[in-house]
Amino acid sequence: MTFGCQMNKYDSLLAEGRFCKAGYATTDRIDEADVVLFNTCSVRDHAEERTYSWLGELKRAKEKRPDLVVGVMGCMAQRVGEEIFSRAGHVDLVAGTRQFASLPALVDQVLDSRTAGQRARVVALGMDDELSLDRSGEPWPGGLHAYLTVMRGCDLNCTYCIVPTVRGRVLSYPIEHLVREARGYVEQGARAITLLGQTVNSYGEDVPAPAAGERRWSGRQGRPGLADLLRELQQVDGLERIRLITAHPSYVTEALAEALRDCDKCERFLPLPAQSGSDTVLRAMKRGYTTELYRRRMEMLRARVPDVELGSDWIVGFPGETDADFHASEAFLSEQGFAVNYVFKYSPRPGTGAAERLADDVPEDVKKERNQRMLRRSEESALKRHSAHVGSVRRAFVESTSDRGPGVVLGRTQHGLAVSFAGGDDLLGRTVDVRIESATAFGLSGSRATP
Ligand code: 5AD
Ligand code: SF4
Repeated sequence: MTFGCQMNKYDSLLAEGRFCKAGYATTDRIDEADVVLFNTCSVRDHAEERTYSWLGELKRAKEKRPDLVVGVMGCMAQRVGEEIFSRAGHVDLVAGTRQFASLPALVDQVLDSRTAGQRARVVALGMDDELSLDRSGEPWPGGLHAYLTVMRGCDLNCTYCIVPTVRGRVLSYPIEHLVREARGYVEQGARAITLLGQTVNSYGEDVPAPAAGERRWSGRQGRPGLADLLRELQQVDGLERIRLITAHPSYVTEALAEALRDCDKCERFLPLPAQSGSDTVLRAMKRGYTTELYRRRMEMLRARVPDVELGSDWIVGFPGETDADFHASEAFLSEQGFAVNYVFKYSPRPGTGAAERLADDVPEDVKKERNQRMLRRSEESALKRHSAHVGSVRRAFVESTSDRGPGVVLGRTQHGLAVSFAGGDDLLGRTVDVRIESATAFGLSGSRATP
C-alpha cells in the first residue's frame, strides 16, 4: 500500500517487481497476503498518522494470523526508524528509501528467524547500498502510462522539508539508460511517460562535466540537463506525451524553456512550487529565490513559451508568517496565474531547520483560515487559466475512460490540463484534436474537432 507522492508510487512498482522476481505474486486482499508492505510518506505529520492508523488495522489481521509479515518502507521508515516498533509492536520490518533490491531478502530474514523459533525485527536504513546505476529491466505494470525516475534525492535545503533527510543526496541516472528505459516502456505499450525527480529540472547537475573529447550537453559546463533528456525522448517513436514532476524555480534555464518550446511531445506545463509570495518567508524557507527572481525566470520562460501553464504548491502558516506575508502569497498566486495549486498548512518535521530553529507560532485556526482563503484564490486563478482555453482547439492525449458514464474519455491537453469529451475506447493512447467548450477550476470539457 502506497502513501505520498508519485515518486513513492514508482518505488512501490520497483518493490513489487523485486518481489515478483523472487517468486511472489501481488494481491489486493489482506486476508490472502503473506506479506503486507507499506510504502510511507513523511512530508507532513498527517501522512505519518495515516500510516499509523493503517498499521493499527493490520494489528487485528495479525492477531488472527500471526504468520503475516508486516513491513514499513519508504520515507517515514527512513525518518522514524526502529522507533516505529514502539508505536506499532507488530511490525516486523523497517526498510528505508534505498532498499528495494534487498526487500525480498529482508522478508526472508524475518521468516528465517521464525523458523528458528524467534521473532526477529529487521531494520535496514542504509542509504548507499541501492544506488545501482544500471536500470535495465526495471519492471512496470503495463498500461498507457509509465513513470521514469530520472533522479533520486534532493540537494537543496528548504527549512521545512524532510525530503533531503529521508531521500538523501541527488543521483541522476545516465541519459542513455533513461532513453533506453523509455524505449522499453513504449515497446511494451506505454504512450505517456512522467519524468520524476524532487527537483527534476536540476537533472544532471550532479554528473561530472564531460572531459575533453566527450559529448557536451546543454547543462552547466557541458553536463547533461533536462533539456537534453527531453530532446532525446522527443525522438522516441510511439511516445506521445512527456510530463514532468516536480520542477524548482531556480533551475528554469533558457535551455529548458527552448526544449519545452521545441518538443511537442512535452506538455507545456511546469509544476514550479513557489511555496510563498513573501520574500521574508522565502528567505526563512531557504528556497533560494525571491519573488523578483521567480518573476524574471517566468518572463524568460513565457518569452519562449507564451502559452505555458504553471502549477504551484503553497505552504501557509510557516513560522513567523504575518498577515502581510500571507497577503503577499495571495497576490503572487493571482499575479502569476497558476492553473493548478496545492495548498498545505505548515507542519513541523522533526530534524528540519525550521522545526529546530523556528517556533511553530501561527495558531491552528489562523492556518486553517489562510488555507481556506488560499484555496479560494487558487480556484479563482485556476478557473481563469482554464477559461482562457475555451473556444480553442487543443491536442489532447486520451488517458482513460471516464467513470462519469459510458462514451466519455479523459485526457490531457498539450498544456497538461485535464479534459473530458465524448469518445470510445478506441481513442485510448491516441492524441486527438478537441474543441474546448467549457471550463471549471479543475478541468476542461469539449468535443472532438473533426480534422
Ligand atoms: N509542512 C507543510 N507542507 C510541506 N510541504 C513539504 N514540507 C512541508 C511541511 N513541513 C509541501 C510543499 C511541497 C509539497 C510536496 O508538500 O509545498 O512542495
Ligand atoms: Fe514523496 Fe516527500 Fe512524501 Fe517521501 S516525504 S513520499 S519524497 S512527498
